[in-house]
Amino acid sequence: MSHLRIQNLSHRYGLTEVLEQINLDLSAGQTLALVGPSGCGKSTLLHIVAGLLIASDGKINMTFDRVSCAFQEPRLMPWKSALDNIALGLKASRLSRSQRRHEAAQLGHRMGLSTEDLDKYPHELSGGMQSRVSLARALAIRPDLLLLDEPFSALDIGLKTELYQLLSEQTVHNKTAVFLITHDLMEAVRLSDRIMVMAAEPGRFVHELVLQTPHEERDNAWIYQTTGELMMTDAVRIGFELPAPITSARTSTASHDRSPS
Ligand SMILES: Nc1ncnc2c1ncn2[C@@H]1O[C@H](COP(=O)(O)OP(=O)(O)OP(=O)(O)O)[C@@H](O)[C@H]1O
Ligand SMILES: [Mg+2]
Repeated sequence: MSHLRIQNLSHRYGLTEVLEQINLDLSAGQTLALVGPSGCGKSTLLHIVAGLLIASDGKINMTFDRVSCAFQEPRLMPWKSALDNIALGLKASRLSRSQRRHEAAQLGHRMGLSTEDLDKYPHELSGGMQSRVSLARALAIRPDLLLLDEPFSALDIGLKTELYQLLSEQTVHNKTAVFLITHDLMEAVRLSDRIMVMAAEPGRFVHELVLQTPHEERDNAWIYQTTGELMMTDAVRIGFELPAPITSARTSTASHDRSPS
């Protein structure tokens, strides 16, 4: 089975240690979510996995052979229409040009982009449309490892739901492994088999949550409850600078401690 294995990885930009002692395994068909505060090194790690950046230390072993990425900023070709940007991913396939455009249009429509939108150039599209084009381009090659950096953050709730569905079809039918960076804990709980929580300075893993509930059994009640539990863990609370949970014991102590005025 294809896999990605990261061992003892560290990375520095100049003298600043950005990632420290990262260890990670990801197998075909699994979705791993990476959450953590802004600036903790999530995109840096994704760039290293994508081969765009060489880690200062550590080992990466990867046996996936069709890897595609949707980066935090969509990185579309400005001189190509949305449709041609999506079809770019298919260039290496044996499909004819018209077949490639047909497949790209189908994928674009699935992402809620109209034929008119698909004819536009990137600068004529909204941020959310651009990120959908970027996601469609990544999906077009039918990757066996999909690297996603905040792919849904600029989308409204209806579109998100549609794209969650599309993503889960990929993972189930094509056994695609997904490495998903998100700020949204609820999204991580909904989509992943495992959540790695990072802390900053230097970026490191501080908490791992394995979600064994099958995806088809994850209803909203389960998602809210599991997200709530995750938000109560010290690693998440401290990492995201969330306030300490309010308990009745604390409230009563506070009122006792109040000094008379
Ligand atoms: N090319 C670079 N040169 C120097 N420092 C960098 C470079 N890219 C990122 N950094 C620094 O490395 C740290 C991690 O950045 P990174 O983009 O990986 O964070 P992130 O977790 O993806 O944040 P966000 O959630 O805001 O996207 C930050 O402090 C950032 O300023
Ligand atoms: Mg980032």
